[in-house]
Amino acid sequence: MEHLERDVVVVGAGVTGLTAATRLSAAGKSVVVLEARERIGGRLWTDVVDGQMREIGGQWVSPDQTALLETLDELGLATYARYRDGESLYITRDGELRRFTGDIFPAGERTESEITRLIEILDGLTAEIDPAAPWAHPRAQELDQVSFRTWLEQQTDDEEARENIALFVAEAMLTKPAHTFSLLQALLMAASAGCFSNLVDADFILDKRVVGGLQQVPLRLADRLGADSVRLGTPVRRIEWDEFGATVMGAGVRVRARHVIVAVPPNLYDRIQYVPALPRLRQQLQQHQSLGLVIKVHATYETPFWRAAGLSGTAFSPYQLVHEAYDNTNHGESRGTLVGFVAAEQADASFRLSAEERKGRILESLAAYFGPEARRPVTYYESDWAAEEWTQGAYAASFALGGLTRYGELQLQPVGPIRFGSSDLAGLGYQHVDGGIRMGRRLADDVIAAAREEESA
Ligand code: FDA
Repeated sequence: MEHLERDVVVVGAGVTGLTAATRLSAAGKSVVVLEARERIGGRLWTDVVDGQMREIGGQWVSPDQTALLETLDELGLATYARYRDGESLYITRDGELRRFTGDIFPAGERTESEITRLIEILDGLTAEIDPAAPWAHPRAQELDQVSFRTWLEQQTDDEEARENIALFVAEAMLTKPAHTFSLLQALLMAASAGCFSNLVDADFILDKRVVGGLQQVPLRLADRLGADSVRLGTPVRRIEWDEFGATVMGAGVRVRARHVIVAVPPNLYDRIQYVPALPRLRQQLQQHQSLGLVIKVHATYETPFWRAAGLSGTAFSPYQLVHEAYDNTNHGESRGTLVGFVAAEQADASFRLSAEERKGRILESLAAYFGPEARRPVTYYESDWAAEEWTQGAYAASFALGGLTRYGELQLQPVGPIRFGSSDLAGLGYQHVDGGIRMGRRLADDVIAAAREEESA
């Protein structure tokens, strides 16, 4: 067993942990990052599978994500725009395939005007929400007690309008059914991206990608720290703590430090034994946050054949297994890639099928949008984050109904020398890489401020 002494131990080498660690190191603190996996980046992972480069986890960057954009600049990483020329596709409730441009799905005049009306209402409510403290809204309790689905039922009798609006938050963002989370949770998601209209605007929310993949952010941050400061294959199993510091135990290493940052998603806090145990309400809090479930599917073809048909590759339908799809062709490649998403209850059902049957149904759904050529990709890949021990779902964590007002405020409060944070706890950039960077900066600044206070005492 190796024994180390550091000012700060960071648990988790995702973008949050590495942002915190590099900031602390730049401020003169000694830091070590302990990472369970044999790789850096957590939910950011670029890999070559069957000869094809894939962004298996997070990949897109939107204009509101200024912390991420600053980091990309600092690290010298170039971006490119997602291909979006041409018309988008929508499949109606009756299974009719329609082409459209703009944000509002061509669901018929009445439904379209209901969708526009609901977006306006949601924009109004979102403007009242502080993403860093949604529980502080004067009607927070009321907004947190009603499920997003029930609230939509109270607003309109137009089922297709409801299902489309639900899609933007339920399947497309939180990757949970709309009856399992509150209106307040939906508003937090929208407020974290600026407004509800931004969630609806695919050109905004899925604007750019990073040349070479978004995992380069954590990889380059880790390079800055140096190989000795990031220990891979080192799951942290136990943290013994008191008011003076902590001893953090991972496979083969024991680190004594004044401060600990646990930069892992909240569903994994419990994989660590805390001695003494965390306070009771913290133990409650983490039982109310869970990850959603989504299958990110990459299908690569010899050419981006949909472009010749005047299609952007963007497709949506609440009535399809693949509820949204995009042109995800990598920078500089002649092959064309479509990315599609199967979320929430559709993902549950898909994972009950054999791999072959699941692939068949997913390709059939892509073919419903893009025609028979979509059935014959050269390579096909499903990201399966729920099967990963050190994530257990995708994209990120959200509160169950009522949890945000009961426990949200507690989540960033330190416990003795231990601070918790990840993109799942962010305000701006919530559930996104941008939020992870903001969270990492905040955790580091809190530790630096606490250390300064101690020095001057
Ligand atoms: P993250 O989970 O990345 O890191 C935590 C780290 O802690 C992991 O490396 C884990 O192995 C480690 N760990 C856990 N327990 C441990 C223990 N006990 N001991 C040691 N280490 C431990 N975002 C975005 O901005 N744009 C996008 O397009 C997408 N799309 C997207 C698609 C998919 C499929 C996924 C899964 C996610 C996205 N996201 C995204 C979300 C984005 O990837 C995510 O919010 C951040 O990468 C999370 O970074 P964190 O560092 O907060 O957690």
